[in-house]
Formats: sequence, structure tokens, C-alpha cells
Amino acid sequence: MQKFSTITPEYLEVAKKSFENVHNKSELDALKAKYLGPKSTISQDLRQLIDIEKNQRANLGKQLNTVKKNLDEFYKKSQSSLMDATQLPSLDMSLPGKSLDKGFGHIHPTSQILAQTYQIFTELGFAIVDSDEIETDWYNFEALNMPPEHPARDMQDTFYIDNGKMNLLPRSHTSGMQVRFMEENTPPFKIIVPGRVFRNEDEDATHAWIFNQVEGLVVGEGVSMSDLKGTLLRVVRGLLGEDVEIRFRASYFPYTEPSVELDAFYQGNWLELGGAGMVHPQVLRNGGIDPDKYSGFAFGWGAERFAVVKYGIGDLRELWRPRFVFLEQF
Ligand code: DAH
Repeated sequence: MQKFSTITPEYLEVAKKSFENVHNKSELDALKAKYLGPKSTISQDLRQLIDIEKNQRANLGKQLNTVKKNLDEFYKKSQSSLMDATQLPSLDMSLPGKSLDKGFGHIHPTSQILAQTYQIFTELGFAIVDSDEIETDWYNFEALNMPPEHPARDMQDTFYIDNGKMNLLPRSHTSGMQVRFMEENTPPFKIIVPGRVFRNEDEDATHAWIFNQVEGLVVGEGVSMSDLKGTLLRVVRGLLGEDVEIRFRASYFPYTEPSVELDAFYQGNWLELGGAGMVHPQVLRNGGIDPDKYSGFAFGWGAERFAVVKYGIGDLRELWRPRFVFLEQF
């Protein structure tokens, strides 16, 4: 009986490996000629079928055709993976991008402060909560004990959206999330609410009409003023350095009682960082929380304030300008 060398598993195995290891088009062309061309073994075998005895021809022919079909498939597969590779000639996605090299951009100082802030608070077990930039008058002011005409609204003179009712505004602080969050969650919880806020503010070196606020809210049983101070000390030291001291100064916010101003002693000066206090019982009630059972503290500050202090930036407005020469120093 006539023997055909192509009708063996080894033959196909070797062919398959060769097609898989193709590096370029000329290698592929050479393999195509070797395995599928007119002088290839399979072509010769097929031609010799004519000499085979009739009773064996059909069976052997079927086997040879299966081999040919396999070889065709190996070729096509190899061709398409070569095409994929050549279409992206030298793009190695695992290489670091140019933007990470020095001189090709870097992280904005405010974003650096925010990233550090998230890190520290999450280590302390806080959740980071997002909120809408457009807020209702109720959550932004009224639910925080600032009814219309309340003088404390003046501290946060803001813009209104003229929808006929004047009850929507670009939030003047992220404190509006306090009551929203209380309505949806049961204590205990610890959250920060970062986000851009908007004020109708005359701009100067220490005031901007837009800035990134970080609001904090902790509610639970037996939460006290010393928890507030301990938390803020940890965060301020994490952001500005372990040798920093903090102090509370008596202050007033309608949504906290007592209320304090938070200062840090940093590089020889006391600097004001933000406001804080124990959540007012009425605010807890507005959020559906029983003030006889739970207590809480809250605080809020601008991320830009920390950036200005930490990096010694003289004019806060620089953080909102696209001046790379300036920003790239930090
Ligand atoms: N909402 C205040 C502001 O934007 C900051 C603030 C002060 C937030 C005291 C608080 C707080 O939660 O208790 O100026």
C-alpha cells in the first residue's frame, strides 16, 4: 500500500508550530510555498492519488484533503496574527507614557492635596461621597438652619438659577449633602463630601468664586467634640506634617452647636483652615435622625487653602489659571 507522509499527526504538528512561529511576511510566504505550494508534499501526495488502487483511493483522498484543510487554516491564522502585529509596528502598550517623564506635565497642586486628603480619610474609615453641583435651597440653606433672610446666608452669597422660583443654585458648599445623606442612611457613619462649590465672591489673593470644598460628617452614638479634634489633628498632620499643632477658636455656624474655627500652627504662623462643630440637633432632625440618641460632628474647608499653605502659594487665584510655568513648580 502506498504511504503518504502527510497523513501523520506529526506532520501536522510540525507544520502548525512553524506557522505559529512566523515573524514576517517573507517567512510566511516561504512556509506557504513549502506546505501548500505546487511543490509541497501535500500537493505531490494528492497528485499521486491517481496511482492508488481504486478501493483505497476514496478513503486516502478524504484523509489528504483533511490535511490540506488543516494546513490552509494554519496559514490563514498565521497571516491574520501577522497583520495584527504589523498594523501596530512599534506600539508597546506596556511602556510608560511620555507624559510621565519630567517636563511632560504633572499632577495639579489642588489634585495632589485632594488625593492625599482621600488617602488619609479612607485610612480613618471614612467613605467618600459625591453630590450634585446644583443643589436646592432647602438642602443648601434651610435644612442647615438658614431660612430665607437669615443673615448667615450672607457669608455665602451665591448665584441662583432663575427657574422662576429661585430655589436652585450652584451649591455654595458641600454641606448640603449632610441632610441628604442622613435621610438615606442610618448611623453610625463617617463621610467626606468633596466637590466644587460656587460663591458670588469678589476675587482676591485669598478668595475665589469657585473652589474645591471638603465637607466632613460623622454621626453615631456618643460622638463628641474630642473625636472631632482628634480626627482633625490626624488629618491636618497627615497633610501638613507631624509637627503641626491645631487649635479651635469659638465661632458661629447655624448648623453646628458649638461651632469652631480650625487653625493650624504651621511654619511659625497660625493659619485659618476651615470651620467645624457639633451637628446642631435640628439638622439631625431634618435628616430624620434622633438627636437624643445620636450626636455628630461636621467640618468643612477648601482644598485650595491647604495647597496655598503647604506649597507657599501667595495668590490662590494661580491655582485656577492655566500657567504651567507656575503650576509645574509644585
Ligand atoms: N460650610 C462652611 C463653609 O462653606 C464650612 C463648614 C463650617 C462646614 C462648619 C461644616 C461646619 O460642616 O460644621 O464655609
